[in-house]
Amino acid sequence: MRAVWYEDYGPPSVLRVGERDTPEPAAGQLRVRLLASALAQIDVKLRAGALRGHFALSLPKIPGRDGVGVVEAIGAGVFGWRVGDAVCVLAAPLDDGTSASHIVCDAARVVPRPEALTLAQSAALLQPGVSAWAAVTTAALQPGMRVLVHGGSGAVGALVLQHARALGVHTVATCRHDHLDHTLAQGADAVIAYDREDFGHLRGLDVVFDFVGGHTHARSYPLLRPGGSIVYLVAAPFEDRGAAHGVKVVRAVVSDAPEALRGVAHAAREGFYRPLVSHSVPLSEAAAAHAALENGQVQRGRIVFEH
Ligand SMILES: NC(=O)c1ccc[n+]([C@@H]2O[C@H](COP(=O)([O-])OP(=O)(O)OC[C@H]3O[C@@H](n4cnc5c(N)ncnc54)[C@H](OP(=O)(O)O)[C@@H]3O)[C@@H](O)[C@H]2O)c1
Repeated sequence: MRAVWYEDYGPPSVLRVGERDTPEPAAGQLRVRLLASALAQIDVKLRAGALRGHFALSLPKIPGRDGVGVVEAIGAGVFGWRVGDAVCVLAAPLDDGTSASHIVCDAARVVPRPEALTLAQSAALLQPGVSAWAAVTTAALQPGMRVLVHGGSGAVGALVLQHARALGVHTVATCRHDHLDHTLAQGADAVIAYDREDFGHLRGLDVVFDFVGGHTHARSYPLLRPGGSIVYLVAAPFEDRGAAHGVKVVRAVVSDAPEALRGVAHAAREGFYRPLVSHSVPLSEAAAAHAALENGQVQRGRIVFEH
């Protein structure tokens, strides 16, 4: 099979493109022929070795968590799938990933491809999808609530905006000035350009979704009503000052469990999880794509690899 892999941690230049043996599915697994895949922050952080204190990778490794393709082979004990079924895959972080023409993975990591999405959108669905799902679930959103989404123009923030709108929640989002229209199109009721305006006048919010951290986190406490919450995904450097402000600071723990994957796929079929695709490139340009993501040159969603 055709694949991208790295044998050592390091800069994007450690990535190799070439031929590898096509794996056979073990019991409980499927082999999927991948038509497209997406690149996320976690993929470049793993390759760079930035997460080696948390994840013990076995090298060489094929990067990539998100992918879309068709079922090509079915391992023993797997039921409910047929060869040729169109599927989305969320590869386990430590296993070989989706930057390849084929992947074998546990059947529980595969869901039917939502017909409402394009191929590129399907390739960019599950990793930001389960992240947004975890954030929204943790926030326990109710119709009529008022929330702020920091980073509403990004892959996760846009899905949180879409989900919140579907739940009847009033949303304000921050993003850079150039992305105001794009972020409104994700379902935000109002937008604030963080590079031109201040968001500090907001008051009485039920939830702040913090996908940015740092200074943005520190300035978000006064925006909340008493008992409100800041929901975050990454342990960005911040000081939890919730007790002093009478609010909660809650980490959304992302789950790859089958019910989370099915929930995201269902939401996409229903039309309110439309993943963002920045642009598409051939898989052979993986190193340039990793570099672009690391250098902050990827905006408004994921780079998608066409295989
Ligand atoms: N399991 C996990 O813990 C987990 C899972 C998924 C994601 N994450 C993390 O969550 C964050 C978002 O992920 P993503 O995939 O959505 O990233 P992304 O697509 O790269 O989006 C990043 C977003 O941050 C926004 N941003 C940057 N500086 C900002 C500021 N000062 N104020 C407001 N917004 C700002 C950007 O807005 P503009 O482009 O408009 O500037 C963009 O919308 C990342 O840090 C990622 O590592 C964690």
